[in-house]
Amino acid sequence: MMNTYVLKTRLRLLFELPPKVVLQKIRKRFKGHEMDEFVLEDVVEPELTVNKHLRPQRMINFLWRYETIIRRVQPSWNLNFSGQRVLEVGGGPLLGLAPIALFLGCEHYCFVEPSYNARILEHPKAKEYFRGVHEDLCALYGERMGLEEFLRLLKERVYVQKKTLEAFEDSETYSIVFSNAVFEHIQDVPAAVQKLKRLSAENSTFIHLVNFGNHRESENPFGGLYTRSKEEYWKTYGKGINTLRANDILRCLMDAGFSTTMIPYVVVERLKERPNEWWKAHHTDDELRCRVALFVNTPTA
Ligand SMILES: C[S@@+](CC[C@H](N)C(=O)[O-])C[C@H]1O[C@@H](n2cnc3c(N)ncnc32)[C@H](O)[C@@H]1O
Repeated sequence: MMNTYVLKTRLRLLFELPPKVVLQKIRKRFKGHEMDEFVLEDVVEPELTVNKHLRPQRMINFLWRYETIIRRVQPSWNLNFSGQRVLEVGGGPLLGLAPIALFLGCEHYCFVEPSYNARILEHPKAKEYFRGVHEDLCALYGERMGLEEFLRLLKERVYVQKKTLEAFEDSETYSIVFSNAVFEHIQDVPAAVQKLKRLSAENSTFIHLVNFGNHRESENPFGGLYTRSKEEYWKTYGKGINTLRANDILRCLMDAGFSTTMIPYVVVERLKERPNEWWKAHHTDDELRCRVALFVNTPTA
């Protein structure tokens, strides 16, 4: 027998879900699932899962993981938002790390995001997201401020710049700079890093996470990449990623004057496709297998 909770949920979904999804679900029922067991497709189908950006714990999860990984390598590395001016590059649709930084006392949060869309922040789901973030931060750090003040700080202290980093100018500098999965999408990384240098205070703290995968298949993150030249790759798959490897990014940062530590984060055990001569001549095996890396400031003694 189906219990009332399940029945109520099904009726609600009937009205809430798009008709196509309702039909898919009904079809699956006829394929003979136990009535009260979880249905595989309910969990794995993209239409039914929560959009990753709306998970309130997403950004704190990133930040805590990065801090833990960095401190494993550099125990004296420290991040303190209190009273600081922070710059985030390419923070995505929901203000990136700004909610966390402001909750932890940041003074000024500059958010450089070329695809920014103010309407998203007005949607009830975005409001629900920020409420969830506040609730989570209160649980983790104590109730430093109420929800109303938190939302007010988000309005008053986040300075959105709807432009690329390359197009952004500021006479002020920033003591903390962050980017998450952005550098791989920038075409002229040396120029962008020079720009960051001009925008950074002396001895700034920074974290740049870079994803070196092909952004197409997680099963084979370098699929199609090392078997052709960059030009051929761009011709086939577009210029969504610049194809630089971790050592290229490290060199750009060092050349611009950032004292940088590179920390490989995800390194695949072996490549599924044999790299061609160009890739072998320009990169070591370790560099080619590095899928995600963190680039952080080396703490001064
Ligand atoms: C993979 S998304 C990452 C978004 C977000 N940081 C996250 O972790 O969910 C890459 C982001 O970089 C932004 N972006 C791409 N090129 C950029 C540039 N030249 N300057 C600033 N942001 C850029 C995109 O608009 C996009 O939001």
